[in-house]
Amino acid sequence: MSSIRQIIIFLGAPGSGKGTLSRMCVDKLDWKQLSTGDLCRQHVQAGTEIGKEIDFTLKSGTLVRDSVIIDMVAQWLATQVQDADSVILDGFPRTVVQARSFIAMMDGSFENVTLKVYQLIVPDSEIVKRLSSRVVCSNKECQAIYSERLLGSSEWHTKKCDVCGHSLVKRNDDTVEKIHARLVNYHHHIEQLLEYYRNIGCQVIDINADVPTEEIFQEILYYERITQ
Ligand code: AP5
Ligand code: MG
Repeated sequence: MSSIRQIIIFLGAPGSGKGTLSRMCVDKLDWKQLSTGDLCRQHVQAGTEIGKEIDFTLKSGTLVRDSVIIDMVAQWLATQVQDADSVILDGFPRTVVQARSFIAMMDGSFENVTLKVYQLIVPDSEIVKRLSSRVVCSNKECQAIYSERLLGSSEWHTKKCDVCGHSLVKRNDDTVEKIHARLVNYHHHIEQLLEYYRNIGCQVIDINADVPTEEIFQEILYYERITQ
């Protein structure tokens, strides 16, 4: 029997800080994070059949097929979150098809669970700067997130991940061309997604995410009525 109280969607453009904020919530609030991007990269590294298809998609900066993502999410929810109070969906749903399937999934398995969306808003110009300077842990079980801007651009090659000690790398979709493709994709789907949430009466809370992560986290605490 699941103990999940709420499911929280972090909705935002590539580089808006979904992963960074999710990790802070996991560390400080003991929430669980489902990142479909992290799962995709794990499949690629494991060389599974799905992984081969995903690899091609990630390299093009486009979206993985809805059915592949939906199966991935269903499997994760069925096996990973039995004892979580709050679950973050980081980077899912990204299309109305995914959102509809997810709501249907909730109706079947998570009947009394609250659904809420936080939309992280960051200007595209800042997104490009963030993604061009992002480095991540090379260990696909970890994928901790860093920034050259914070580590010092000449130094990141020599640093190891604070969490697991593996080396740091650039994500191969963080090139100027692919950042652009991902942003185009994001803007293509976002209005329809927001309209869908409005139509089903799901609360969407806008957050200014063009501020330090600690400030964003404090705003989340405020909306969640959590005092620390
Ligand atoms: P995914 O891995 O989810 O990538 P994304 O959505 O493009 O988002 P990012 O992970 O790039 O950014 P983020 O918002 O997590 O920012 P981060 O915290 O890292 O997906 C990758 C690919 O997988 C997709 O393109 C697609 O192909 C496929 N995919 C995944 N989910 C899918 C789905 N549902 N459907 C179909 N396909 C799917 O931060 C970025 C940088 O900014 C870091 O360097 C960080 O240190 C820095 N930073 C973070 N917050 C701040 C802040 N507040 N101030 C300053 N710097 C900050
Ligand atoms: Mg991410």
